[in-house]
Amino acid sequence: MQHYTSLKDLDSLQITVQEAIELKKNELQFKTLGEGKTICLLFFNNSLRTRLSTQKAAQNLGMHTIVMNFGSEGWQLEFEDGVVMNQNKSEHIKEAAKVIAQYCNIVAIRAFASLTDKEKDNAEIVINSFEKYAGIPVVNMESATGHPLQALADAITMEENKVLHKPKVVLSWAPHPKALPHAVANSFVEMMQFQGADFVITHPEGYELNPEITKNSTIEYNQEKAFENADFIYVKNWSSYKEYGQVLKTDSEWMINADKMKLTNNAKFMHCLPVRRNVIVADEVIDSENSIVIQQANNRTYSAQIVLKKILENL
Ligand code: CP
Repeated sequence: MQHYTSLKDLDSLQITVQEAIELKKNELQFKTLGEGKTICLLFFNNSLRTRLSTQKAAQNLGMHTIVMNFGSEGWQLEFEDGVVMNQNKSEHIKEAAKVIAQYCNIVAIRAFASLTDKEKDNAEIVINSFEKYAGIPVVNMESATGHPLQALADAITMEENKVLHKPKVVLSWAPHPKALPHAVANSFVEMMQFQGADFVITHPEGYELNPEITKNSTIEYNQEKAFENADFIYVKNWSSYKEYGQVLKTDSEWMINADKMKLTNNAKFMHCLPVRRNVIVADEVIDSENSIVIQQANNRTYSAQIVLKKILENL
């Protein structure tokens, strides 16, 4: 594998999930594969899980890691061609990407959506510019429109917990006071399109995700109906895609509580974290034995490690 910017970069999601589960049994089994190799992790936005799990994954493979909070510590980058750079942007991506590529063998990037300019966000300017100018493998640690490392960890977690061959999986919107990006939900939908599951997306009207991503996925506007007989409830907030970046609804009507979980087939509760307790999900649900959010976060290491392993094997 050359880059990992979307789930489509995997030859097979199913095989990769099985490989990650095998890797997890002995996470140091490839501890010399990355010897002498370095990964730069560049964060334009905050992180807990992605930052620590990707470092751990790289170190499990014997790699060196360099981490930079680019958003707060780096020069402001210009991404447009032909601009007179006499404003606040100090460095062009053309130089920055090439310079960074001299210090490492793989570059991993977190750069969220602006949520103010749909066209620019959909163009994935940051990730695509690094891919264009760095000339080394690029890993997406959550971009404007996708979070493929999270989706791979979610697939691993569901595989570890599934009882039925064809479980019912529900992606449910839940309220949040701030405008959040669509990346996690988008990649989860894309991941589910590779699975043989019964998949339903539920959200209030006006919160439809990008139809180019949801394609012909089932959308159910009645959350309780969607929850009936579900085996997995995956919860996430996102802002409106149509009224781009707007928060249309914040009341607790769509929060996940124990009564809603009772409608399911004893479903597992999933969330990528961080999560706002008693806004997105009631304590009684996230603290229940059906909550697998900590296992899900643990699988971020094996998701990143299997991806880095595949890239290292191709270097
Ligand atoms: N789920 C996830 O990406 O967590 P962080 O934002 O803390 O990295």
